[in-house]
Amino acid sequence: MERNWIKTPEPSVRERNAGRLAIAGGRCQKPRPMNAHSSPSSPLSVAFSAPAPLAGRVRVPGDKSISHRSLMLSALAVGESVVEGLLEGEDVLATAAAMRAMGATITRGDDGRWRIHGVGVGGLLQPQTALDMGNSGTSTRLLMGLIASHPITATFVGDASLSKRPMGRVTDPLGLMGAEFTTSPGGRLPLTMRGICPAVPIEYRLPVASAQVKSAILLAGLNAPGITRVIEPVPTRDHSERMLRGFGANLTVEEAADGTRTISIHGEAELKPQAITVPGDPSSAAFPVVAALLVPGSDVTVENVGLNPTRAGLYEVLRAMGGDIRFTDERVVGGEPVADLVVRHSTLRGIEVPPAIVPSMVDEFPILFVAAAFAEGRTVMRGLEELRVKESDRIAVMAEGLRAIGARVEELEDGLIIDGTGGTPLAGGATVAAHLDHRIAMSFAVAGLVSKDPVIIDDMSPVATSFPGFAAMLASLGAESRPVEA
Ligand code: S3P
Repeated sequence: MERNWIKTPEPSVRERNAGRLAIAGGRCQKPRPMNAHSSPSSPLSVAFSAPAPLAGRVRVPGDKSISHRSLMLSALAVGESVVEGLLEGEDVLATAAAMRAMGATITRGDDGRWRIHGVGVGGLLQPQTALDMGNSGTSTRLLMGLIASHPITATFVGDASLSKRPMGRVTDPLGLMGAEFTTSPGGRLPLTMRGICPAVPIEYRLPVASAQVKSAILLAGLNAPGITRVIEPVPTRDHSERMLRGFGANLTVEEAADGTRTISIHGEAELKPQAITVPGDPSSAAFPVVAALLVPGSDVTVENVGLNPTRAGLYEVLRAMGGDIRFTDERVVGGEPVADLVVRHSTLRGIEVPPAIVPSMVDEFPILFVAAAFAEGRTVMRGLEELRVKESDRIAVMAEGLRAIGARVEELEDGLIIDGTGGTPLAGGATVAAHLDHRIAMSFAVAGLVSKDPVIIDDMSPVATSFPGFAAMLASLGAESRPVEA
């Protein structure tokens, strides 16, 4: 596909020289200290309701996965990159702070554009203080990959949710490349890693379908001599591959007849600065889309939604359930297929979701569970074991919350079976715990729109990680929200 998001701005002489200096310092420079920073947040209990059909046009913030990668790769390019439509959520800001702490200059203009002066591949500097990753697994795992092939030491810390998440899936392959790790029990955060330069290029077959693990290895491979290969038996989101190529890395993808993909990256790359436009996040669009399907009489357009095939599984499933979702004005933005989604209230029917589609909608199951709770008949969703190690155990937390508001849910080790109401409102009348998980909080906000009594979410603050302005977006469609005493 045409990658039209690549518009290479000419670096100025000063920028080119700055870049040369970074590279002239060698790909394995001695560490130099820089600063890091962090941002706290406080609990906020909220109840949502929809007094009337939802109507109107909304936009959702920029894609989180693409935003992280655009900052990281820009910070490794020589010269100035410009990013438009960046998600300004806490997770992405944690990545920005970390890249600053390792030497990149990152500023936001009044026009909303972000400008990044990179240090060159091999030019990352020693951060002076611990890198505070907040809630962000993507920042943590991808940055561990970047640091693995630089001769610097870094400590990663995160919030209570992130500190429970497994990191062995990245420390194992990065350890094979020569990086060293001292982790908390169970291979978790806080952890300290020591990168190595030169790192050893590896060939690695992913034991879990994870774009984060794939990306960590490819990013480490950027500064390793020779070719680093990742073998991916099940395709996962391919934003890293697309963007690495766009920045000029020598990366190839071979696809076998059985769908296995082999991604090879030539190391010691030199990245060229880019102008990037980040499309709207399909994972964020999922909330207004399901809200419009469920609230009777609704007619909503969600503009500028990224529909990369490795991300768009939810929309296929919702359509198979009878959802009236039309893609209009299909176009390419930032090298990614994009459309406006026109969504009308629909009576959904339960289906068996094919496990093969799971990686292309891995973040959308919490909101699909809500849709299933209102569908006619039974929805079976299996092959979801990865959901247990997201920002929360999304199978257990959603099962508990949905039962509390009156849904019929059977929890399996690897998924949920939900018998829906056929459109009748659920009882509601409960407070559900978000467990520091933005997608749990937003999913129950949507469930509250179609429940008889209020559904109170104990803490909406995690929504700031991925969807600043979520409540305002729902309000613009006619929903109401009110703070509740915790
Ligand atoms: C992401 C990959 C997915 C996804 C996460 C973002 C990425 O995680 O759940 O929200 O940007 O690479 P896994 O790689 O753990 O599946």
